[in-house]
Amino acid sequence: MPDNDTAKDASDYALGIPAPKHAFFLKGLDHVDWGMKDRLSRIFNPKSGRTVMLAFDHGYIMGPTSGLERMDLSIPPLIEHADCLMCTRGALRSIVPPTANKPISLRYSAGSSVLTELNNECLLDIEDALRINASALAVMAAIGSKFEAKTIENLVRTADLGARYGIPTLGVTAVGKELTRDARYLALACRICAENGATFVKTYYCETDFEKVTATCPVPIVIAGGKKLPENEALELVHKALQEGAAGVDMGRNVFQAEHPVAMIQAIRAVTHDGRTAREGFELYQTLKNTR
Ligand code: 5RP
Repeated sequence: MPDNDTAKDASDYALGIPAPKHAFFLKGLDHVDWGMKDRLSRIFNPKSGRTVMLAFDHGYIMGPTSGLERMDLSIPPLIEHADCLMCTRGALRSIVPPTANKPISLRYSAGSSVLTELNNECLLDIEDALRINASALAVMAAIGSKFEAKTIENLVRTADLGARYGIPTLGVTAVGKELTRDARYLALACRICAENGATFVKTYYCETDFEKVTATCPVPIVIAGGKKLPENEALELVHKALQEGAAGVDMGRNVFQAEHPVAMIQAIRAVTHDGRTAREGFELYQTLKNTR
């Protein structure tokens, strides 16, 4: 206990100076709880307001896809360059050293594989998410598919659990084979995720009117990269998405399938956080790959 007899009288009340107010740096998230803001501030860089998330959760649906055959070898060199790791709990426990101390966006719903159509997904146990100290819970929402209701129910349930424990929910818009990946559809899917409680949303970039997708989504959007593109085109896609309102990327194949994945993720960082153009990012990529 402090010794009350010798305590110095309090005098520094700064009367007349109002207590500072702090607006949160991410769109639409002023009113979420402290723990959620703390986790979001680990995923997104508070200076740039953006994030470079590395997605390597593909195995949960695709098995050992190209670039992830030996993820114990391909992923560790990339970890230090990512702001956040998006992965399954299996990959996390197998190949990510806890000493990396990176925020984890945990793949929190599961239930389909490439051998079947999207189906009745289930959720992991929230206790396991807490055990691994997840910084976000990533849940698929298949808007417009046969299992739309089930996946929205999963999103709602996850957002409730996330609110209880201060863990952000990442709504991941799945695009079924029969759905067009245009701004009208993506805006609908992202908005539905946000209104049902997603703290941020992951979706795809589209060439026309992507700014309408970001403008009408009240919370931050990060983009997936999709199928592997030539490196200069992937950097162009990143740059355009950011210019049109995305708050970052959550990319996989365009990183781990690149000719030089470590150079590629650093080039994506330069475009995302340092205001480099796509061309400058590509020049950096070439420089870095030639110095290895
Ligand atoms: C799968 C996912 C992937 O994480 C996502 O597709 C990102 O990877 P890529 O950049 O390879 O598209 O959410 O459902």
